[in-house]
Amino acid sequence: MNDNSIVLPKFYSEIKSDSEKISFSMPSDLQTGSFLRTLSATKKNGHFLELGTGTGLSLAWMIEGMSENSNLISIDNSSEYQNIAKKYFQKSNISLICDDAEKWILEYKGKKFDLIFADAWPGKYAVLEETLQLLNPGGIYLIDDMLPQKNWPANHDKNVEKLVQELESRTDIQLTKMCWSTGLILITKI
Ligand SMILES: C[S@@+](CC[C@H](N)C(=O)[O-])C[C@H]1O[C@@H](n2cnc3c(N)ncnc32)[C@H](O)[C@@H]1O
Repeated sequence: MNDNSIVLPKFYSEIKSDSEKISFSMPSDLQTGSFLRTLSATKKNGHFLELGTGTGLSLAWMIEGMSENSNLISIDNSSEYQNIAKKYFQKSNISLICDDAEKWILEYKGKKFDLIFADAWPGKYAVLEETLQLLNPGGIYLIDDMLPQKNWPANHDKNVEKLVQELESRTDIQLTKMCWSTGLILITKI
């Protein structure tokens, strides 16, 4: 078995090409994308949250896995990045919000989520508790980049270590660490 035959989602290549033009360098990898597509397909009528739209590469995977009756909110504070996603995904069940994710999480009063892909500082290294509070029981929370990456800033390993310890000490979740892709942690709320 190998990962060479992953079929890319619709618009992935176009978004990748647009991303390269603006030198966007933070996409999740293809394995995480494929995993997100599968996880998104597990929740019919699901309510999904992505923290860190970027240019829409991970979003393309999630949308491809989602059923028509699911909906997704994706937040990024960079309109330059998010406008690329907006160019390709104009659908009534997809809300692309340009805002600070920490502020948005603290102010959010809507229904809880069935799947959260936390791919920005907020939701992972800030407002972790508040983000996990937004997850339904049985809901899925996924984070990547938990294994050392070339683009990590100095001393980021300490942030990751602290985050993993915080997650491992919680009694309201079940957690699996996956040393695959960029290092994933898959969590479900008990
Ligand atoms: C790792 S990238 C997201 C990549 C995207 N999920 C993908 O796989 O293609 C992180 C994103 O978080 C955004 N970001 C950073 N700080 C943020 C904040 N405080 N609020 C919202 N978005 C933020 C950045 O603009 C960047 O697009």
